[in-house]
Amino acid sequence: MVEQRELRVQQMTWESEGVVSIRLTRIESDKPLPEWRPGAHIDVYVPDGTTRQYSLCGDPADLSAYQIAVLREPESRGGSSFLHEQLRVGERLLVTRPKHHFNLEDAPFHALVAGGIGITPIMTFAEELERTGRPYSLTYGGRTADSMAFLERLDRLGDKIAVLAEDVDGRPDLDAIVRAVPQGGLVYVCGPLPLLRAVEAAAEAAYGPDQDMVRFELFSRAGVEIEEAPSPLEGDTYELVLAQSGHTLRLKPDANILDTALALGIEIENDCRDGICGSCVTRVLAGTVDHRDLVLTKKEQAAMDQMMICCSRPTSERLELDL
Ligand code: FES
Repeated sequence: MVEQRELRVQQMTWESEGVVSIRLTRIESDKPLPEWRPGAHIDVYVPDGTTRQYSLCGDPADLSAYQIAVLREPESRGGSSFLHEQLRVGERLLVTRPKHHFNLEDAPFHALVAGGIGITPIMTFAEELERTGRPYSLTYGGRTADSMAFLERLDRLGDKIAVLAEDVDGRPDLDAIVRAVPQGGLVYVCGPLPLLRAVEAAAEAAYGPDQDMVRFELFSRAGVEIEEAPSPLEGDTYELVLAQSGHTLRLKPDANILDTALALGIEIENDCRDGICGSCVTRVLAGTVDHRDLVLTKKEQAAMDQMMICCSRPTSERLELDL
């Protein structure tokens, strides 16, 4: 069961052109909100009954409120346009508890890279690294200076931050950023898919195809297409075992496992259904998978012990899941 709560909109602040931050407080309760760590997000329910995911970008120590920042997307499906144009201070929003799919791992160095509104989780990582005295760099790129949110707040972090407005400064030198990372260091990226791909390419060029130094969260669906590689089981069926609920089924390899499990009445968190949000992650107990998500790292995918069931498919004759 997804834990939900209603929060009250206490404050809405223009952070930059097209970006509004929303502070959400508790209603009639002194109980602290659930704790969260940098990189966490909440799902926000919008009037069409679907959810949108927003990174928490306030202070993790302040559990009287959550803060999110919302970019007005021209192609909005009703999420960002509702939050920008209809939501008002004093109204209520239904949200989930914080979820942690994008986590700060221990490493001797963190190179943080944000594109546009991707700054929200990246900024909380930077503040955490600053607070705990760990070395890092932060490169924040945006279209124009006016479109870039939280510049004043980032200014407090000092000279570890490089802010690049593309119309003036050009794009970040990702090769240089990646090559400056000492051994064992990690690169954290949040932004649109082309930025992620460019960072991965830079990391592979510098350290080879087996590098496992890039951690990422996609902030935009733009350009996201699930690669539909032909299944090795095409035209055949495979056995899907749902261990917890006791179901054994024969399915075509391209059948959507998320839809199948939901139809059986199994509750599974899901949102994007595109392999980018991480909500539907499911433990794999046996079998192998053609991973089509953009959430797991290459190493995590190779381990074959978890999968995004909204998009990934089996490559073995039998797949057993912890559902
Ligand atoms: S529902 Fe988002 S990754 Fe599966």
